[in-house]
Amino acid sequence: MLRTHHCAQLTKTNLGATVSLAGWVDSVRDHGGIIFVDLRDREGITQVKFDSALRAEAAQLKAESVIGITGKVESRPEAMMNRGIPTGEIEIDATELTVHNISETPPFPLTDAGGDKVNEDLRLTYRYLDLRRPKMRKNLAVRHRAAKSVRDYFDTQGFYEVETPALFKSTPEGAREYLVPSRIHAGQFYALSQSPQQFKQILMVAGVEKYFQLARCFRDEDLRADRQMEFTQVDLEVSFIDREGVYSLLEGMLKKVWKDVLNHDLPTPFPRLAFKDAMNRFGVDKPDTRFGMELADFSDTFKSSGFKVFASTVAAHGSVKAFNAKGLADITQGEIGALEEIAKSLGAKGLAFIKVENGEWKSPIVKFFSETEKAELTKRLNIENGDIVFFAAAPWERACAILGRTRLEAAQLLVKRGKMTLRADQWNFLWVVDFPLMSYDEEKGSYAATHHPFTSPVAEDVPLLDSDPKAVRGQHYDCVLNGMELGGGSIRIHQPALQKKIFEDVLKIPADVVESRFGYMLKAFTYGAPPHGGFAFGLDRMCALLCGTTSIRDVIAFPKTQKAQDLMAQSPTPVTAKQLKELHIQTVIPQQ
Ligand code: AMO
Ligand code: AMP
Repeated sequence: MLRTHHCAQLTKTNLGATVSLAGWVDSVRDHGGIIFVDLRDREGITQVKFDSALRAEAAQLKAESVIGITGKVESRPEAMMNRGIPTGEIEIDATELTVHNISETPPFPLTDAGGDKVNEDLRLTYRYLDLRRPKMRKNLAVRHRAAKSVRDYFDTQGFYEVETPALFKSTPEGAREYLVPSRIHAGQFYALSQSPQQFKQILMVAGVEKYFQLARCFRDEDLRADRQMEFTQVDLEVSFIDREGVYSLLEGMLKKVWKDVLNHDLPTPFPRLAFKDAMNRFGVDKPDTRFGMELADFSDTFKSSGFKVFASTVAAHGSVKAFNAKGLADITQGEIGALEEIAKSLGAKGLAFIKVENGEWKSPIVKFFSETEKAELTKRLNIENGDIVFFAAAPWERACAILGRTRLEAAQLLVKRGKMTLRADQWNFLWVVDFPLMSYDEEKGSYAATHHPFTSPVAEDVPLLDSDPKAVRGQHYDCVLNGMELGGGSIRIHQPALQKKIFEDVLKIPADVVESRFGYMLKAFTYGAPPHGGFAFGLDRMCALLCGTTSIRDVIAFPKTQKAQDLMAQSPTPVTAKQLKELHIQTVIPQQ
């Protein structure tokens, strides 16, 4: 080894020992001719003193260069002790210095604050420098701890970790897929696996009973703070389990991860919220329950209102919903404009509001309201001076979505004003349950699976599949934490006839397409398929929350940018004509 200790190891108990350390030059200071170098490695910092023939060479050291030193552990003078770090009472009096590599001046300061100030693209271009920052190093450590904790948990629960192929076949039901051309089979393609869903169900037919995997998944989606094109799932599947069994199994896993990583005791069981209640109260199926400002339904109140926008919405079987953004009456015109834009992008015709200032209701629409309507609003929304109430009148699901988003934006505005705190370490876990099995797409005029087509309907609802698919409840559940969907899963269909019916009669996938895409699975199910169910957590999202960051890019060593590029290695790139020819591919670049 090029060193005897790491840089957070030596203390007064080592006084007098001759040691070797290696690492990066964190800083160089000249104190009246004696050179002090803070030497840094992954674990910490040790102060090295050059007070000998090495002084001149040490004075030339540039920050971030890699050196090795040998010397004696000495006590620091009392005045120079730093009790904030483990090595703060000692220093090494260097007798040897090896310069392993001289560093260029980094393009940004490698401190937490220094890196946070620069553009993320610069950090991603020099990711190897960015990852040297204490915060990023800690994030990698947290991710390692979390993954280890997950593996230990499933091991003790009797699970096998089984790897499944990344190169799968195209079954374009979910997100858009990444296709991989086959060299051997001209004109044919693999698809990168969006999740191990079908393989893990087949593993249940294979008798594995308890499977898990830290699985890499690939989806060609528009990237966001919580979405990458390749990401990692904590994926699992269990035979002979029901929904209650899944909840307690996964609560046990999360309890262990939070204990192992943060030394925090999560209370279990987690609260449960039906999909319909989540939508009605929070306007979204992944509610952030760290704050109130819940939505209320006023369709009854306004069904014969003088405000025609509301009355006509109710007449057309839509909903009038409202919520009180408590204490936000000081919202600016610009901020209201921005909220309106967001509401419109979600299909709103407008975003009516009432502000209460100096005891007066200020709003262009309040003149249309009767005293009874006002009294009802005041009572149910607890309207007080300084509040602002937002309204949406639209079909039920859209009205929920508009106000659900406005509620989140309003919370951010309150946080900005110091009127609300949203603590990253308040862990409001939630099971969202009782989703409908199918949703109806008005535009396409067809049904789509709410989760995926392998989800089992609630047994007593099966007869409704023919008469009223929308009313069928699915055995699907989501795990939500502070407004983020951490994972989802379901009890699956294990009878081939029912699975075929869902594909062909409800989802209207032609029989020959079902056969070519899922035939192998339906066939497997005819050879003794056990009842089974499972789940997948987004490991990246889980780690982001554990690290208190909102971007999963901060917990992925080498993420892609929002524009789906790797700025460090610079991909994607064009390839040679020879490569394309081998793959039987011709490209057509659209004209700009
Ligand atoms: P689902 O598609 O809901 O379910 O994915 C499960 C979880 O994976 C995470 N996730 C993502 N994380 C980062 N970037 C992405 N692009 C991305 N997409 C999804 C989320 C999500 O909750 N096979 C099913 C699970 C099952 O039924 O067992 C599945 O993949 O945290
Ligand atoms: P109008 O009568 O169209 O001038 O609208 C009066 C106010 O109601 C404006 O502030 C609009 O933004 C708002 N508004 C219009 N339609 C809706 C709707 N469907 N839901 C909520 N607010 C609306």
